[in-house]
Amino acid sequence: MKHYDYILVGGGLFNGVIAREARKQGKTCLVVEKREALGGNIMCRDVEGIMVHEYGAHIFHTSNEEVWEYVTSLVEFNHYINSPVANYHGETYNLPFNMNTFSKMWGIAFPSEAKKIIESQRQAVEGEPENLEEQAISLVGTDIYQKLIKGYTEKQWGRDCRDLPASIIKRIPVRYIYDNNYFNDPHQGIPKKGYNELISKLYEGCDVMLSTDFLEKREELSRLGDQVIYTGTIDSYYGYRFGKLSYRSLKFEHQVLEEENHQGVAVMNYTDRETPYTRKIEHKHFAFGTQKNTVVTEEYPVEWDDGMEPYYPVNDEKNNQLFQKYRDLADQEEKVLFGGRLGEYKYYDMDKVIESALCFAKDRLNL
Ligand code: FDA
Repeated sequence: MKHYDYILVGGGLFNGVIAREARKQGKTCLVVEKREALGGNIMCRDVEGIMVHEYGAHIFHTSNEEVWEYVTSLVEFNHYINSPVANYHGETYNLPFNMNTFSKMWGIAFPSEAKKIIESQRQAVEGEPENLEEQAISLVGTDIYQKLIKGYTEKQWGRDCRDLPASIIKRIPVRYIYDNNYFNDPHQGIPKKGYNELISKLYEGCDVMLSTDFLEKREELSRLGDQVIYTGTIDSYYGYRFGKLSYRSLKFEHQVLEEENHQGVAVMNYTDRETPYTRKIEHKHFAFGTQKNTVVTEEYPVEWDDGMEPYYPVNDEKNNQLFQKYRDLADQEEKVLFGGRLGEYKYYDMDKVIESALCFAKDRLNL
């Protein structure tokens, strides 16, 4: 049986960068992925020529020149700029909160007018905000809170805003300029041929074992390599011996529609409480598609349970303490190293995952 320098558990972006750095040094890698395809959460599925973001909308954005250089040396990016729209009972507003939003909401034209309205509405909270509702009103006033924050946040967390801690929202970015670009980073876009091309380039030259759960064959698979880089959930690696870490999960409902253009924008946030989903994604707009049909995805936040995809770690005190116990065990391992969003129990944007994997390759693997 072939012996490898690295057994890469999980075929997502983190291990993709490790694979590329390893291959550049002539090292051999075996990738073990439990899903049917590589890519982790950035994997796309081609439906009628439209790249569908199977595990949620993924928009690449970064301020890190090294990361931008890294990805653009592998694939070409388009000039997509994320400018989501909020839909509140059929009324639409531009996001993030900016002069276009305020002008539509209050029929005003100038920043001084918007500032005055927001300031007068913020007064509704006296003293220290005691919950998320009070915190949001103290930051942006009642109208924006009621129409654009309340329903969306309650669906996201499955709880009333008055029962959520104020600490969830530290600040709410408000722009007193006419600018719908969601991100502040200088670089933004989507790979022209979709994320799968990026993944293929990153894993070029590796042997791949799909539909294989490493944990079910860990002894046998570990023996095949000198070092294991594990990017699955850290608590599952240790058989949940201290208990399970919590996540928020999502349910996606994809639909092909026989119309060319359904909502006129890639991302529409449904901010009322009554619409059961939080967002609707129309994938072709990520790539300026002109196909005859369109594909839309409704996104429903759900409580995570066994067998569901763990999307967002719940980094509260209890879970962070639990994670630390697993981290202490992981620190004693020699052959197995943990990385990526699941191994580190941390939400990472794609650019940050690449940054972290590049550091990991250099500092921990001497690549
Ligand atoms: P990732 O989860 O992608 O890969 C881990 C892989 O390990 C998975 O393929 C999994 O199947 C596999 N695995 C786990 N256990 C295993 C086992 N026991 N055996 C074998 N395989 C195993 N970022 C951004 O910059 N812009 C954006 O717009 C978004 N949007 C976004 C939306 C949603 C809904 C989420 C949840 C996340 C984002 N992100 C994002 C973040 C982005 O998805 C993230 O940075 C990367 O996918 C993380 O890559 P990893 O390799 O760390 O994990």
